[in-house]
Amino acid sequence: MFMDPKFPYFSPKKTDQIRTKHTLYFLVLLLLLSSFVAFYFICPPETLSFLRFAYIAVPQTTSSPHQFLRSPSTPISDKECDYTRGIWVRDVDNGKFQYYDEGCPFLDPGFQCLRNGREDEGYLRWRWQPHGCQLPRGNRKEKINMSKNCFDDHLTPSSLIWILLITMDSALWFNATDLLERSRNGRIVFAGDSIGRNQWESFLCMVSRSVSNLSNIYEVHGNPISKHKGYLSMMFADYNLTVEYYRSPFLVASARAPPNSPAHVRGSVLVDEMHVYSRFWSGADVLVCNAGHWWNQDKTDKMGFYFQEKGALNMSMDVVEGFGRAMKTWRRWASEKIERNNSHVFFRSYSPAHFRQGAWNEGGHCNDSTEPFSDPSSIRPDPFYNDHISKAIRDMERRGNRTKVHFLNITGLTEYRRDGHPSSHREPGTPKNASQDCSHWCLPGIPDTWNKILYATLIRDGYRVDRGG
Ligand SMILES: *[C@@H]1O[C@H](CO)[C@@H](O)[C@H](O)[C@H]1NC(C)=O
Ligand SMILES: *[C@@H]1O[C@H](CO)[C@@H](O)[C@H](O)[C@H]1NC(C)=O
Ligand SMILES: *[C@@H]1O[C@H](CO)[C@@H](O)[C@H](O)[C@H]1NC(C)=O
Ligand SMILES: *[C@@H]1O[C@H](CO)[C@@H](O)[C@H](O)[C@H]1NC(C)=O
Ligand SMILES: *[C@@H]1O[C@H](CO)[C@@H](O)[C@H](O)[C@H]1NC(C)=O
Ligand SMILES: *[C@@H]1O[C@H](CO)[C@@H](O)[C@H](O)[C@H]1NC(C)=O
Ligand SMILES: *[C@@H]1O[C@H](CO)[C@@H](O)[C@H](O)[C@H]1NC(C)=O
Ligand SMILES: *[C@@H]1O[C@H](CO)[C@@H](O)[C@H](O)[C@H]1NC(C)=O
Ligand SMILES: *[C@@H]1O[C@H](CO)[C@@H](O)[C@H](O)[C@H]1NC(C)=O
Ligand SMILES: *[C@@H]1O[C@H](CO)[C@@H](O)[C@H](O)[C@H]1NC(C)=O
Repeated sequence: MFMDPKFPYFSPKKTDQIRTKHTLYFLVLLLLLSSFVAFYFICPPETLSFLRFAYIAVPQTTSSPHQFLRSPSTPISDKECDYTRGIWVRDVDNGKFQYYDEGCPFLDPGFQCLRNGREDEGYLRWRWQPHGCQLPRGNRKEKINMSKNCFDDHLTPSSLIWILLITMDSALWFNATDLLERSRNGRIVFAGDSIGRNQWESFLCMVSRSVSNLSNIYEVHGNPISKHKGYLSMMFADYNLTVEYYRSPFLVASARAPPNSPAHVRGSVLVDEMHVYSRFWSGADVLVCNAGHWWNQDKTDKMGFYFQEKGALNMSMDVVEGFGRAMKTWRRWASEKIERNNSHVFFRSYSPAHFRQGAWNEGGHCNDSTEPFSDPSSIRPDPFYNDHISKAIRDMERRGNRTKVHFLNITGLTEYRRDGHPSSHREPGTPKNASQDCSHWCLPGIPDTWNKILYATLIRDGYRVDRGG
């Protein structure tokens, strides 16, 4: 599953002799493996994708190489490919896969980790490479000629190097111009908690790279990016496109405590009623929802907030049950209220936090993590949030509802990236003794990968092809 960071071929240090030697070993091994593969398989030029073989040849990409040993007559189709399964690979091209830097004007100071004193830049030097995918490439000019790479007649050292290069090139790819063209006269909406805001800012920075005059991107009500309450809507005037963020940490509504509540009740979360902003979400061309980080005891009952259903407080409902009810409410809303047949709806999975030696409010920290986890056994089980979200989506399919929702399951790939949080490099003015931030993400950073997967999924869905260019 995980590429060992010390793995020789991908090491950026060219001068290291030992690594050169390892690279040689690796190439020999590759040659052997490839010959083996070529010997056992007949290769029909139109159907056999070299990518599958390249993946067999690159060791350590998976605990079960057999998943790539499919019958040549059934090529991995785009529909089958899961962009969220893959490996983090150290980026040999230092920064080639980075789309913007901390100078992007749409970033919260709290996400600009280098400006806030972070010294190691290693967290910027990884890219996500999905397993065995033929990634959609939008309008990319240099299309790769798939039929050129059949093994029978091309098993030469140069073809092997070509295959390796192509494998490297299968990193997720993002074309901001293409996305903006497709989104003309449209609305892209992010709704959820501050991690959703994190992703929204990453998205703004990624797409704004292809806008030459940044003055043509502005908040429609003139609000500054530092406004954290309510919502913000960024207009891309060249495209008549708005990219909007709605703060609604529970997605459902919250309210003051009902009359005659016990004295310690400060407010309620209405698990059977959508947030009032949801009326702005239903007409979006792309909607990305998320929730989870407020569905815990610290942000609910320990702060005096309890769940409410059918107009009455239910003091015995816990967060797991409450979240399940809220997801049902969301499902009903999405089935009935998503107006457009061509809306692309996503629910992003839980974004893991990485507090060590204590929770966020118990002095937990993550400032000593400068490398991703390399050991899959460090990966925690899927959180209950994901079960509720994916169940809601499955239920919609089962009921034959028209609204199609993508479960953007980034939990697994994100779990590895304990090194991507601001930790103690929080916004200027944060007290020295404040808790570390091991929940949000430095930008540029991990949410860029979520957005690349979002983009790849949209392209695969045929997102507004007719409006392009
Ligand atoms: C990105 O998309 C634009 C607009 O569709 C296209 O003109 C351009 O060639 C694409 N860029 C790359 C690198 O594929
Ligand atoms: C792709 O490769 C095949 C076989 O080598 C060739 O016949 C075909 O013309 C190529 N297509 C393009 C677009 O280059
Ligand atoms: C901008 O897009 C909106 C839809 O989001 C549309 O109603 C409006 O007419 C467009 N304006 C122009 C000037 O094209
Ligand atoms: C950028 O756009 C603004 C507002 O539309 C305009 O005033 C300014 O002259 C433009 N700058 C350049 C360099 O084109
Ligand atoms: C409160 O919620 C629990 C589930 O958490 C449920 O079993 C119980 O029936 C609810 N109480 C009322 C009065 O609805
Ligand atoms: C879709 O969802 C709604 C509400 O959840 C439900 O009433 C309806 O029967 C579902 N099925 C279809 C086919 O629309
Ligand atoms: C959406 O699709 C349904 C069924 O395909 C169709 O009856 C309806 O008119 C469409 N609505 C819009 C707004 O295009
Ligand atoms: C990380 O934070 C902890 C707790 O605040 C502190 O004791 C430690 O010195 C820090 N380590 C580094 C490497 O900055
Ligand atoms: C989300 O992805 C992870 C890692 O790929 C996987 O273990 C988990 O089962 C997935 N969750 C759901 C609900 O599909
Ligand atoms: C940080 O220190 C200040 C002043 O010394 C104190 O008032 C505050 O409670 C401390 N905060 C934390 C989280 O320890």
